[in-house]
Amino acid sequence: MTEPSADVLRIIRSRRVTRALTAQPVTPDQLDTVLEAASFAPSAGNRRLHPLVVVTDSRRLAVLRLVSPGMLQRPAAAIVICIDAANARRYGFRPDTPGLYVDVGTLAATILLAAHAIGLGSGPVTSFSRAAAAHVLGLPDGWGPRLIVCLGHPADNQPAGMRAKRRREALARTLWR
Ligand SMILES: Cc1cc2nc3c(=O)[nH]c(=O)nc-3n(C[C@H](O)[C@H](O)[C@H](O)COP(=O)(O)O)c2cc1C
Repeated sequence: MTEPSADVLRIIRSRRVTRALTAQPVTPDQLDTVLEAASFAPSAGNRRLHPLVVVTDSRRLAVLRLVSPGMLQRPAAAIVICIDAANARRYGFRPDTPGLYVDVGTLAATILLAAHAIGLGSGPVTSFSRAAAAHVLGLPDGWGPRLIVCLGHPADNQPAGMRAKRRREALARTLWR
């Protein structure tokens, strides 16, 4: 059996949603690292159908935030995970098939962990108007934004998160064996 990697477990355990970010830009190299890591996310049927839209323009990010009530942070960059309905159909998926949504989750989790591994703060957002976000981003017809990952440099003070004790309680409540 492979030895457990303490680094990987540390990154998984220490990642928290970052809701206070500084105005410092995310560099192209940092974005490339995160996107390259995303290409390793598990994907249903290994089809890798989801367009990833990178947003770094501050004005566009500000307008995206206006249509995203769940975006509490002011990101320096965002990666918008989309479903391309036409491409999904071409590969035999109905656009509402669960695998497509699971892939959104595996991409999001991989991006969040990769961002944390290089010292960036990050946070997923699903509370946004899909139609308005598609318009703001100028997405091609049929591309539906499903989850926005906000990225940036963590500010010194973060709002309080869920405590370790509550995590253990939640695990105990949901574990069945
Ligand atoms: C599918 C999904 C959607 C989420 N949407 C939002 C959101 O719209 N706004 C937000 O601030 N956080 C959002 N979150 C982040 C959760 O609130 C956060 O993961 C949870 O509170 C646990 O905090 P932690 O990730 O720091 O452990 C979302 C998380 C997931 C998995």
